[in-house]
Amino acid sequence: MSNKSRPGLRVAVVGMGFGKAFVPIYLHHPSVSSVVVCDPSETARREIHDHYGVEETCADLSDILKDDSIDAVHLVTPIPLHAKQSIAVLESGKHCACTVPMACTLDDLFAIIAAQVASGKSYMMMETAVYTREFLLAKELAGRADFGAIQFLRGAHYQDMENWPPYWMGLPPMHYATHAISPLLAVAGSRATEVHCFGSGRMREELQRQYGNPYPIETAIFRLATSHIAAEVTRSLFETARAYTESFNVYGSLKTFEWQQIESDAPVLFEQTELGEGRGTRQTTRRLEVPDRADLLPPEIARFTTPTIYDETNPHRSFVQGGGHGGSHPHLVHEFISSIIEGRKASIDAITAANWTAAGICAHESAMRSGETVTVPDFSTVGA
Ligand SMILES: NC(=O)c1ccc[n+]([C@@H]2O[C@H](COP(=O)([O-])OP(=O)(O)OC[C@H]3O[C@@H](n4cnc5c(N)ncnc54)[C@H](O)[C@@H]3O)[C@@H](O)[C@H]2O)c1
Repeated sequence: MSNKSRPGLRVAVVGMGFGKAFVPIYLHHPSVSSVVVCDPSETARREIHDHYGVEETCADLSDILKDDSIDAVHLVTPIPLHAKQSIAVLESGKHCACTVPMACTLDDLFAIIAAQVASGKSYMMMETAVYTREFLLAKELAGRADFGAIQFLRGAHYQDMENWPPYWMGLPPMHYATHAISPLLAVAGSRATEVHCFGSGRMREELQRQYGNPYPIETAIFRLATSHIAAEVTRSLFETARAYTESFNVYGSLKTFEWQQIESDAPVLFEQTELGEGRGTRQTTRRLEVPDRADLLPPEIARFTTPTIYDETNPHRSFVQGGGHGGSHPHLVHEFISSIIEGRKASIDAITAANWTAAGICAHESAMRSGETVTVPDFSTVGA
C-alpha cells in the first residue's frame, strides 16, 4: 500500500523486529502521508514490502537522516543503539520516537534531553505499559479519585529472555524495568527520587559476563517526589520459573486495583465499604471487566487495539495484526503524531522518559552496592 498522495507527515520506522507491529498503524493514520522502513536485514525489508506494500525501504539509518522529506523517525532497534540513534535523529532536525528503554546510562539520558532541547523537536518514549487497557482504566479511576488516597504502588515484570538476541544476555533486570516502573509513576503523577534495591539469586557464569551483572532478579523500593507514597518493583529476566507478566497494583484508602496472577484472568478491584460492629472495615472483591479504549482513537486506526485480519480481500495480507501489549500500539502512534501536529510535548516527553528510565538504572546501581540508597537525578532542570 502506498499512501504518498495524502497530505501529512512522512514517517520512518527503524528496526523491523517489534517495529513491524507499528508499520500498518502509521500507514493508516490519517495525519501520516507516507511510511519509509529501515532495517539492515534484506529479508525483513522484503517481508514489510510484501505484507504492507511499503515501497520505500533502506538498510541504513544514515539514509533516513539525510532525507529532508522525512519528518519523524520511530526507533525500534536494539537497546544499546537507542541513545546514539535518538541523538542522531534529533540532531538531523526530525521528531523522534524511541521504544523502551530511553538509554542505558544516566549520561546518555542527559545527552538525549540536551539534543531534544537544542532541536526543539518532539521526543517520545513509546512505553506500552501506560497505554494498555488496564492502565487507561486505572488512570480513569485515579482521575476520579476512586482510589481515595493512594497509599502504595507495586509493579512486577517477569519475562524469560533465554534464546533472545545476544545483547539481552545477562542484562541487569532493572535496565529494562520501565514496563513495571512507568505505570506506578504515571498513576501517582510523580517521579522517583531515591531507591534501595537488592539483587537476588545467581545466574550461570556465562550470563554474568556481558554486563557484569550476577542477578536474575532485582527488587527495589522507590521514594516518590511529590507524595508520601513508596513504590516497590520486582523484575526478572533469567533462570526464574514465572510466566510472563507486566503488572501494576495500586493500593488506595478506598479501592485497590490488583493485576491478575495469571494473565488469562482479569484484574481485581477491592473496595472498603462500611465499618461494621466487628473488627476491620468490610471489603468487597470483584474481577474487573476492562474496556477496550479504541474510542479514543481516529477510526482509521481504532481496529489495531485488538487482533484483526489485516486484509481479508488479499491472500498475501490475510494475517492477524494488532492487539499487542494491551492494545497500546495505536494509542502510542496517535500520541506521537498528535504531539507533532499540535506542536506540543508528547505525553512521555524526554524529561518523563528520563525519569522513568533513570529509576531502573539507579536501582541496579543500588543492587550492585548491596542496597545502598541511590539518588535518582532530577532531569526537570536540564536545558531550563
Ligand atoms: N512492550 C514494548 O515496549 C517492547 C516490546 C518488545 C521490544 N521492545 C523494544 O524494541 C526494541 C527491539 O526489540 P526486538 O525484539 O524487535 O529486537 P530484535 O533484536 O529482535 O530486532 C531488532 C531489529 O532491529 C534491526 N536493527 C539492528 N540494528 C539496526 C540498525 N542499526 N538500524 C536499523 N535497524 C537495525 C534488526 O535487524 C532487527 O530487525 C528493543 O529495544 C526492545 O527493548 C519493546
